[in-house]
Amino acid sequence: MNETRTFALGWSGGSGIAYGMRLLEVLLAGGHTVHLVASPAALRVLRHEAGVELDPARPDLAGLVRPELRARLHVHDPAAVEAAPSSGSAAIAAVILCPCSMGTLARVAHGFSSNLLERAADVALKEGRPLIVVPRETPLSPLHLRNMLSLAESGAVVLPAMPGFYHRPQSVQDLVDFVVAKVLDRLGVASPLIRRWATPPAPPASPWHEGEEP
Ligand SMILES: Cc1cc2nc3c(=O)[nH]c(=O)nc-3n(C[C@H](O)[C@H](O)[C@H](O)COP(=O)(O)O)c2cc1C
Repeated sequence: MNETRTFALGWSGGSGIAYGMRLLEVLLAGGHTVHLVASPAALRVLRHEAGVELDPARPDLAGLVRPELRARLHVHDPAAVEAAPSSGSAAIAAVILCPCSMGTLARVAHGFSSNLLERAADVALKEGRPLIVVPRETPLSPLHLRNMLSLAESGAVVLPAMPGFYHRPQSVQDLVDFVVAKVLDRLGVASPLIRRWATPPAPPASPWHEGEEP
């Protein structure tokens, strides 16, 4: 699918803000419009994981993307439940929570809609539009697992931030791109990020010599 669409992207306070940042960049660079909402916890994760210090009262999230991409980016305060993603009548093609904390996951699974991220996700479910959640936690408690099942049964795609290693990643960016490419696949957005699995590459030479395995 190559036409451009409008997405709502929620960053919550799960680890892995790099996934959310990369997804935002790829969607905007692909000509799509993005409504972005970051929870206060996501701003803290941004500081810890990306070294980006934003004013929590007026976080300049648009400043995180290249200037030429900003025209299609709409940043909303998480308290702004009057913003477009809050309404089923807004033309939002899909909602993605990436990264998705266990807190946001639980609240969405129970229909809390206590902020714009949760409301946008709730709207996607009620309207039968795609909702993709990218949870990050380990290990997972029975509560986490139940909430994920509940969301999957309600129609969401639960796409955990679990990068594969069969494409032989060379960098953290490769691992990030693996997960982001999975999200793009589910959105039907053409992804330049990963090579498709076809013929398996030759396995690397064994690091062990015969008779020396531990
Ligand atoms: C650096 C950092 C990493 C975190 N990693 C996770 C995580 O991987 N998964 C998770 O569920 N919560 C994680 N948390 C905790 C959440 O941010 C916290 O539960 C927060 O209340 C979630 O709020 P939100 O769902 O409104 O964003 C992390 C917090 C920080 C500061």
